[in-house]
Amino acid sequence: MAGKLRLGVLASGGGTNLQTLIDRSRDGSMAAEIVLVLSNNPGAGALKRAAEADIPTACIDHRNFDNREEYDREVVAALKRSRVELVALAGFMRLISGAFLEAFPNRIINIHPALLPAFPGLHVQRKALEYGSRFSGCTVHFVDSGMDTGPIIIQAVVPVLDDDTEETLSARILVQEHLIYPRAVQLIAENRVRIEDRKVRIEPPISTPNAALCNPPLNG
Ligand code: GAR
Repeated sequence: MAGKLRLGVLASGGGTNLQTLIDRSRDGSMAAEIVLVLSNNPGAGALKRAAEADIPTACIDHRNFDNREEYDREVVAALKRSRVELVALAGFMRLISGAFLEAFPNRIINIHPALLPAFPGLHVQRKALEYGSRFSGCTVHFVDSGMDTGPIIIQAVVPVLDDDTEETLSARILVQEHLIYPRAVQLIAENRVRIEDRKVRIEPPISTPNAALCNPPLNG
């Protein structure tokens, strides 16, 4: 049997998505091994979670670099040293340079707390609320040179409720993030993900129930 996919996780914050990837890797439901957790933020909870799980860590503080290219060169070197095959951004709050993309072509994925292409960028749960969206959700996508624009692998939808705050909506979305991120990694680990133009195909295909959601519901 081929070895497990060697996964590098980049995180800037608390690391609940990292924790889910660690847990799914350890319980065998995701055929990937996290070989490096890297952060730009020395205080990241993600580094603590990795250390507690005995996963190698690296902290490369962006404040010590003059520009993005120099910074990304160091990050790529660390990922290559750990023989990383797939890079998962998990709340990594930095843009990725062209050189980084070229070092891992179609091998960098990101999780974003909105239904792309709606609400790319930052503070997107607040923006969805302010806009009056009836649904929000989360997206796992390949990273390309745009801001949250790469081919979409998987999305989950949640309703926006009348009394939602940024915190309650974010929490509802986060539950789904923790389900779809390991699923995306697993599909890639199984070599089932193909990119055609900007569309992702899953092979063999998985049939999707043809059921619509309405918010508010049609009756009531
Ligand atoms: C997650 O909600 C993730 O989708 C978001 O940051 C949070 C990190 O939480 N990422 C972005 O907004 C990227 N644009 P975590 O540290 O608990 O995983």
